[in-house]
Amino acid sequence: MAAFLRPGERQSGAFGVSFDTDRDAAAASLPTFNRNEKLALQDQRRRLPVYQHRREILYLVEHHATVIIVGETGSGKTTQIPQYLLEAGWCSHGRMVACTQPRRVAAMTVAARVAEETGSTLGQAVGYGIRFEDVSTPGLTQIRFCTDGVLLQEMLQDPLLTAYSVIMVDEAHERSLATDTLLGLLKKVQRRRPDLRVIIASATLEAERVAAFFDASTVRGAKAGGDDLSKQPALLSVEGRTHSVQIHYLEKPCSDYVRTAVQTAADIHREDMPGDILIFLTGQQECEDCVVMLEEEARKVRAGRAPLRLMPVPLYAGLPAAAQLAAFEHAPRGYRKVVVATNIAETSVTIDGVVFVIDSCYSKQTAYNPLTGLESLLVAPVSKASAAQRAGRAGRVRPGHCFRLCTEADFQALSDATVPEMQRAELSGTVLRLKALGVDNMMTFDWLAPPPAETMIRALELLHALGALDVSARLSKPVGQQLAELPVDPRLGAALLASGRLGCSEEVATVVAMLSVHSVWAGARGERKALEAAKAKFAVGEGDLVTYLNVWKAWQESGRDRRWAARNCLNHRTLLRAADIRSQLCHHLRRLGIAMESCDTEVALLRKALAAGLLMNAVQLVDTAADISDPSSAGVNIYRILRSTGPGPLPKLRIHASSVLARTRPQWLVFWQVQQSSSGWFEMQEVTAIEPHWLPELADHVYTQIGAQRS
Ligand code: CDP
Ligand code: MG
Repeated sequence: MAAFLRPGERQSGAFGVSFDTDRDAAAASLPTFNRNEKLALQDQRRRLPVYQHRREILYLVEHHATVIIVGETGSGKTTQIPQYLLEAGWCSHGRMVACTQPRRVAAMTVAARVAEETGSTLGQAVGYGIRFEDVSTPGLTQIRFCTDGVLLQEMLQDPLLTAYSVIMVDEAHERSLATDTLLGLLKKVQRRRPDLRVIIASATLEAERVAAFFDASTVRGAKAGGDDLSKQPALLSVEGRTHSVQIHYLEKPCSDYVRTAVQTAADIHREDMPGDILIFLTGQQECEDCVVMLEEEARKVRAGRAPLRLMPVPLYAGLPAAAQLAAFEHAPRGYRKVVVATNIAETSVTIDGVVFVIDSCYSKQTAYNPLTGLESLLVAPVSKASAAQRAGRAGRVRPGHCFRLCTEADFQALSDATVPEMQRAELSGTVLRLKALGVDNMMTFDWLAPPPAETMIRALELLHALGALDVSARLSKPVGQQLAELPVDPRLGAALLASGRLGCSEEVATVVAMLSVHSVWAGARGERKALEAAKAKFAVGEGDLVTYLNVWKAWQESGRDRRWAARNCLNHRTLLRAADIRSQLCHHLRRLGIAMESCDTEVALLRKALAAGLLMNAVQLVDTAADISDPSSAGVNIYRILRSTGPGPLPKLRIHASSVLARTRPQWLVFWQVQQSSSGWFEMQEVTAIEPHWLPELADHVYTQIGAQRS
């Protein structure tokens, strides 16, 4: 059993979380916890903290070009403010209010909620836009929730965002790459469109900093606003309706946080304290594993005395929408819901009814090393700010508890705030879009926080390798412009463009579509063997991406049969979504004048087109472990990256165990993604075997003669 310090043994009041020393007194003051309480929606709306500020918000938006609103998760910012604007007439003359979200789940669920509150059908007055999916009606939609990335892509067609009267940049504290980029661009747009209003909403924010960034009143030549529009941003803070949350730390560090989380949940359950539980883990696999373990626990406790039954529900981005909704629904009478989530539950969504938070204090983060040019996902400790948000989820309905699965000393060593994505991501896509919008000098662009110069140089190198830039580093014609228009990563875009030349656009469109959805595999819980067997049926020696093509073809041959998909551990809905994305990609390609052609059995052409996109991710097998002085590397495959990297040790690359090529280990391959293992390996996922002589053929400006680039 996990040992936590007894509550009250140590306290600290940092990060806005207050602590109660007297647990029982807190429990005694609880309001009755009535799940069946169902208020009329309008009544619920008026009860949200943000409602107290309705008039003030509308006044500020009227009189300030930029308004910054800070408020706790669940105070009503996302769902209410767009409605206030609609009610106040900001959607007249066919203009819309946009509300951007860094996460797709949030855009979709919040749009559905607001449609319900306004009594309209989703996609009409209230709609949403996520990549490859637009559920809105031109001329009819008034409030549009969309991902920040979608709004950026829209700017290529409509640089001044004339379709909108107000842009609300929501969840700004997440500092996603697209949000930061959008903020810089909106500042430019404001200079050209004094009628545009920008609202920046956030759960926590260095509000002053953003305010200073948007303060145009100090800019020389800025119109003082002959109308009484202030160029100075207004700042508004919405108090939350939160209760105290008691924090508990482990006495000793735990070695397996998933198991410890399960034990902690079971302990809470056995003690029979009322309220739902929310567990924060890092990724899909962990969430699914944890759910399986909790189900086991549920069977055990059912045999015991606990009057409630445990009901574990996973919540992560890759989950099909219908399954995600289960996490938001109230548990049926007699059940206690345990939501097992990734950090999408940190601030993006509100899960009512949570009283206990169990926090692994880890999350999956992107990390980019400009020296190696490798962007990878790795599991890393969260920041104190993140942990405070997570803890806050426990105090929504009544005083709650947060169990951090680390010692207090370890917790104190965490960094204060999460590093913005701009500082730790690969930037080729961002640079490409900015260039398409006429921002040529990245260094002088007005960044909220400028990205590292090294990262910028690497992004330019990659775009140059893909042929997207001309000699003066402007977007090349037509390649650069075409790449910017394709709504995919520049590398996948380059593969699509190459497929036109190689006569395999049908196949590459399929592969890119399959990469644009979350995994198509649907391993029934606890049936990993069946899943492995199903995967093996489609596996081919050319690699994971060609295997995807196989899956697709077989699904087509089945007549897109739902039962066939289920028998083969495939998610039918995800495949349908891939099919939809694929047809959109084909539409884009035809618009760019690229004919849809199939290479039939000549799979080498497909591999070559993929290599054209992933050419900076080409690696060669080096056969001895002695190349890298690391005893743990003995007996595993070691690859070295073929393009030049910066000074310092070479990155250690190997094929991820999930790859169909993990055992065959071809001599030459390109990879799509890398994940970083805890022992420092870069594990390549979604790999494709290639022929080395393709590289100089495809990009003689990068690879002169294969094998000779590195001395
Ligand atoms: O944006 P913020 O976190 O301030 O709050 P919100 O997302 O507007 O949520 C306000 C309230 O609406 C929440 O407390 C939930 O009770 C409710 N809500 C919901 O029931 N279903 C959703 N999909 C979103 C919000
Ligand atoms: Mg919100």
